[in-house]
Amino acid sequence: MSKLAISGGQPVRVHPFPIYNTIGSEEKQAVLEVLDTGVLSQFLGTASKEFYGGPRVQKLEREWEEYFGVRHAVTVNSATSGLYAAVGAAGVGPGDEVIVSPYTMTASATAALVYGAIPIFADIDADIFCITPESIRKCITSYTKAIIVVDLFGHPADIDEIMQIACEHNLVVIEDAAQSPGALSCGRYAGTLADMGVFSLNRHKTIHAGEGGVIVTNDDDLADRLRLIRNHGEVVVKDKGTQNIVNLIGFNYRMTEIEAAIASEQLKKLEKLVVPRIEAADYLTERLGVFPGITPPVVCQNVRHGYYLYVLRYDAAQTGIPRNRFVAALNAEGIPMVEGYVEPIYLEPVYQKRIAFGKDGFPFTYPGYKGKVNYDLGICPVTERMHYEEVIFANICYAGIGRRDLDDVVGAFEKILSNAHELRP
Ligand SMILES: Cc1ncc(COP(=O)(O)O)c(C=O)c1O
Repeated sequence: MSKLAISGGQPVRVHPFPIYNTIGSEEKQAVLEVLDTGVLSQFLGTASKEFYGGPRVQKLEREWEEYFGVRHAVTVNSATSGLYAAVGAAGVGPGDEVIVSPYTMTASATAALVYGAIPIFADIDADIFCITPESIRKCITSYTKAIIVVDLFGHPADIDEIMQIACEHNLVVIEDAAQSPGALSCGRYAGTLADMGVFSLNRHKTIHAGEGGVIVTNDDDLADRLRLIRNHGEVVVKDKGTQNIVNLIGFNYRMTEIEAAIASEQLKKLEKLVVPRIEAADYLTERLGVFPGITPPVVCQNVRHGYYLYVLRYDAAQTGIPRNRFVAALNAEGIPMVEGYVEPIYLEPVYQKRIAFGKDGFPFTYPGYKGKVNYDLGICPVTERMHYEEVIFANICYAGIGRRDLDDVVGAFEKILSNAHELRP
């Protein structure tokens, strides 16, 4: 076997992997049609027909409802806005606690903070990286108001049991499905499994519109509140005769007509974009799963994984190579592998220093908050082990990636693991 690239040998791969580009003539045509109208957004923050947005925004919402089999789809300008609106619609406020994953994009947790609530971090499952029902149970207090469940990397969380816990404690569940459009749990789409679900249409996602998000719910009242929060609700509640105005101070979370037109075309392609991800991931899993110390993604029974990212668990004790050396060796071979995902959120300065809004530490220091929160290193041991020791991932399972590309990945693993002695400390 040839010398490792990290030691000066020839890399397995010298050219970059194909880029992910799903924008075709349909999206271009759709954008041109919007440009021809001269109206790029058609929202008005008044109690009028245009409070609900322009024709393409409304068309996308009806299409999304139909596709995902939900009563309401509410478009927004990002999943971040979608999560914020969902927490607002749930009536969360200062003094409340919201249980959330520490292993996710940061907005899943800041959604609680922006409404003055305290994020409480539950630990994740080592196989699917989503928060577990057991760890959620341990986090529940009399202040808990909601749970934000993240379907991380494209694998749906153990939602049925989580919904059962929520029912027992009268909690609202928000499913962050930003990374999992097209994933399924028992034949139901990820994102539709909780009280509200939030999808992302940012440029990294399986389907995208540059930026954008969609919130789904089967609850008419929540849908109404989401639409008010999206678009300056405080101006409209009087005309609408809305009684419960808690958290209805609105924002501008409105999607443009251009984004909606692109998203409509992307939605039509969703299945065609998810299936190649699964095929590529299944191939890698079959080939990489044979190497000692490499655990491919686990897929629970009755789940279809969306493979936003292809995430492996690495066991340095078995390979004898420290994780950072192994990943550096893969990078040198031309394979874009990354170690760890995101630092556990509670270790961000906002939580460590308890500084969010104003210099006095609101909401952590809010006198109406009677709970006691702990953000110390060690509170979520599985998350920390996954992040600091085991997780390695690559964004290499998507439409446009061929067998030869995947064979290069396998070839690099094989080459490094059979030359392991070169990398052992
Ligand atoms: C799990 C998760 N939640 C929320 C978001 C926020 O999405 P957006 O960029 O659309 O605001 C992301 C984006 O990466 C995400 O991965």
